[in-house]
Amino acid sequence: MSAAFQPFTLKGVTLRNRIAVPPMCQYSARDGFTNEWHWAHYAGLARGGAGLVIVEATGVSPEGRITPGCTGLWKDEQTEGMARIAASIKAAGAVPGIQIGHAGRKASANLPWEGDDHIADHDPRGWETISPSAIAFGGGLSKLPREMTIADIERVKADFVSAAKRALEAGFEWLELHFAHGYLAQSFFSVHANTRTDAYGGDSAGRNRFLIETFEAVRKVWPENLPLTARFGVIEFDGRDEETLGEAIALTKILRDGGLDLMNVSMGFSTVEAKVPWGPSFLVPTVARVRRETGMPVASAWCIDAPTDIETAVASEQMDIVMIGRAMLADPHYPYQIALALNEERPAWTLPAPYAHWLSRYRGAGKGAAQ
Ligand SMILES: Cc1cc2nc3c(=O)[nH]c(=O)nc-3n(C[C@H](O)[C@H](O)[C@H](O)COP(=O)(O)O)c2cc1C
Repeated sequence: MSAAFQPFTLKGVTLRNRIAVPPMCQYSARDGFTNEWHWAHYAGLARGGAGLVIVEATGVSPEGRITPGCTGLWKDEQTEGMARIAASIKAAGAVPGIQIGHAGRKASANLPWEGDDHIADHDPRGWETISPSAIAFGGGLSKLPREMTIADIERVKADFVSAAKRALEAGFEWLELHFAHGYLAQSFFSVHANTRTDAYGGDSAGRNRFLIETFEAVRKVWPENLPLTARFGVIEFDGRDEETLGEAIALTKILRDGGLDLMNVSMGFSTVEAKVPWGPSFLVPTVARVRRETGMPVASAWCIDAPTDIETAVASEQMDIVMIGRAMLADPHYPYQIALALNEERPAWTLPAPYAHWLSRYRGAGKGAAQ
């Protein structure tokens, strides 16, 4: 069996293979509530055979949403819809995961297909944004955030804890804290967004503080037998990458020692000046370095599409789980295509039984599926 199809156990949870669906916003919620779209979407992805399906960035508060269409877990009433989604993922044989986060200065944005920029200040659909410092991201996301007070910081940490509890109640077995992509937690870590002079800014200890305290608070309420993970931008591609990576690896070790179970290694997206070297598997060497230097399990996404690249990343121990986003949107049964390409002995095993029966029995046998 190829490395990509080996099971993976983390804490009390076993993934049936090393393929995961990363969190991908659907921008289709109302007031943070999920609906039939989300249910069908996530059930379909799980039926496609991935070992882990992580539900999209879910706001820990209304102002923590990226757009008005983002999901939330800031109210008890939002738990029921999420429970249905978690159950549908689990019923299809995948582990149900969810990412919770706060979008910080990138919040209050239009849906991607309606502009992908900040909602205009005078538009009632928008809201005040908060960030460690009153510095706008730039480009289409130029809304000026309000600098957070210590009371804001305490409230957001408490919101993460409440959302984590609701995620657990909803039946999720894998929690990912969104510490990446230029959203609130990444902004605390980043010198591009954090110029505070109090205990939450300045040197790396200060810029790490919000992330560590949020993690520690969630660790207390998330069960020890279920994976608690984070997605974190360890590199910006802004010309000061060695420094950022050094600080990010040091923080990863602190979180590891505090009980982080896996790091989903990603990019910072904290500056419009970034020059990301897009291309097949471009982030893999960075991910492998985090794994090597921290000794902890890692996952990652970003343009790792080709079946042989997926296999190599796992077989050569560069990462433990490969996250496949857009290819799974194009074809939720992409794991089946990977299994075929890797010459798995029984590729149809990646399919649900009502499909697998027909494809395993008749594929290439010269018989019609109607027989
Ligand atoms: C539609 C869409 C929504 C996304 N939403 C999120 C999100 O909610 N949280 C997150 O961390 N990343 C998000 N991402 C990034 C993906 O998780 C993933 O890293 C990215 O698609 C790169 O992987 P790929 O090359 O396999 O598509 C999103 C990507 C897409 C395409």
